[in-house]
Amino acid sequence: MGASLQEVPSTRTADDEQHVSGWTEHRRTVAEILSAITEPETYALSRNLYLIVGLLWGLAVTSAAWLLSSSQQGFGATPRGVWRMLAHRPSSLAMLLVPVAFTVFLGALGYLKHRRDRYIAALLQELGASVQRLATANEELRELDRLKEEFTSNITHELKTPLVTIKGYTELLLGGDLGTLGETQQRSLKVIAKNGARLIELIDQILLFRQQGAVPLPRQLRPFPLRDLLAEVEVNFRPQIEGKHLDFRVDMPTPMITVVADRSRIERVFANLISNAIKFTPDEGSITIRATVPHDGRVGVSVEDNGCGIPKDAQQYIFDRYRQADGSVRRRFGGTGLGLAIVKRILHAHGVDITVESAVGKGSIFRFELPVLKSSRGR
Ligand SMILES: Nc1ncnc2c1ncn2[C@@H]1O[C@H](COP(=O)(O)OP(=O)(O)OP(=O)(O)O)[C@@H](O)[C@H]1O
Ligand SMILES: [Mg+2]
Repeated sequence: MGASLQEVPSTRTADDEQHVSGWTEHRRTVAEILSAITEPETYALSRNLYLIVGLLWGLAVTSAAWLLSSSQQGFGATPRGVWRMLAHRPSSLAMLLVPVAFTVFLGALGYLKHRRDRYIAALLQELGASVQRLATANEELRELDRLKEEFTSNITHELKTPLVTIKGYTELLLGGDLGTLGETQQRSLKVIAKNGARLIELIDQILLFRQQGAVPLPRQLRPFPLRDLLAEVEVNFRPQIEGKHLDFRVDMPTPMITVVADRSRIERVFANLISNAIKFTPDEGSITIRATVPHDGRVGVSVEDNGCGIPKDAQQYIFDRYRQADGSVRRRFGGTGLGLAIVKRILHAHGVDITVESAVGKGSIFRFELPVLKSSRGR
C-alpha cells in the first residue's frame, strides 16, 4: 500500500483561529510584563507611582490576611494579636511577599503604561510635524499656482495685443483697402488670417478660463431658441466641416426648444465640443448634435462623433485643465487642453454636469442637460 505524501487539509475552524490569536496575544502580554519586571526603569519611584499603589494594596491585603488568621488562631483581631501571632508563627512573615509581588506587578504595569504614553506622544509629535510640513508645502503650491496664473494672464494679454493688430492689417489687405493683391498673395494672407484667428481664439480660451477660475462665473440667463444657436455655431464651423467632408447633422425631436441660459457661454460650450468633434474625426466621418424631448424643465443634449474615441483611463481627466488624452510631444492634434475644462465650468455654473461615453476607434458622445422654459414641452 503506497502512502502518498499529501498535504493534510487544515481542520481548524474560525473559532480555533480566533482562540489561537487570542492565546498569542496573552503570551505577548505576559512576555511584556516579564521584560518590564527586569527593566531597572520600572523601579524609578519618581516616575512610576504605580509602585506605591502596588505596595499599599499589598500591605492592605497582607494586613487583612494577618488579622483574619490571628483572630482564627485565638490571638485576637488586633495589631497586638497579629504581633503575638508573628512571634509564635514566624512562617506568617511569608505573607510579606504579597506586597512585594503587588509592587513589582503594578510597577511593571505602570512602566508599560508610561512607555506606551511616551510612544503615543512621540507619534503625535511626528504627526504634528508632518501636518505642519504639509501645510507649508500646500501654501507654497498655492503661491506658485497664483504666480503661474498671474504670469499666464499677463503673457496672454501681451500676446493678444500685437495679434489683434496683425489681424486688423490682414483684413485690410484682404479687403483690398491697401491696394490690389495677386491671387498667390491673397491665398497666403488667408492662411495668415486663419492661423492668426486660431491664435486669438486660443488666447481667449486661456483668458476666459483664468477669469472663471478666479471668480464665480457671472451668468446672464435669458430664454433663446436652441435651434437658432446651433444654426449660428454651425455657420462658423461650415468651412472646417466642408473641408473634411463631414456629415454634420442636428437632430431635434421638437423644433421649438427654448433654453434658459447664458447664450454666449452656451455657444462656447457647443463651439468647444464641436471643434473637438471635428478635430478628432477623420475625413468623411459624421457628427450629430441631438436633443431629447424636454422633460422636467430640462432638455438632454448630446454631441456625438464617430472619430478616434477616448481611452477609458483618459476619460476621467480630459475635463481637467491642460489635460489631453494624448499629452505626448508627438501628439497628432494641437490645442491647449482647456476646451473641455471650460465646457465643464460653464455647465456647472448652470447647475448641470457633462458626461462622456466613448470607445477607441468608434467615437465619442458628450452628454449634458440644459434648463428650458417650462412651456417648451415636446409636442
Ligand atoms: N470628440 C473627441 N474625440 C476624441 N478625443 C476627444 C474628443 N474631445 C476631447 N477629446 C480628448 O480630450 C482632450 C481634451 O479636450 P479639450 O477640448 O479640453 O482640449 P484640446 O481640444 O486638446 O485643446 P483646446 O480645446 O484647448 O484647443 C483632447 O486633447 C482629446 O484627447
Ligand atoms: Mg478642444
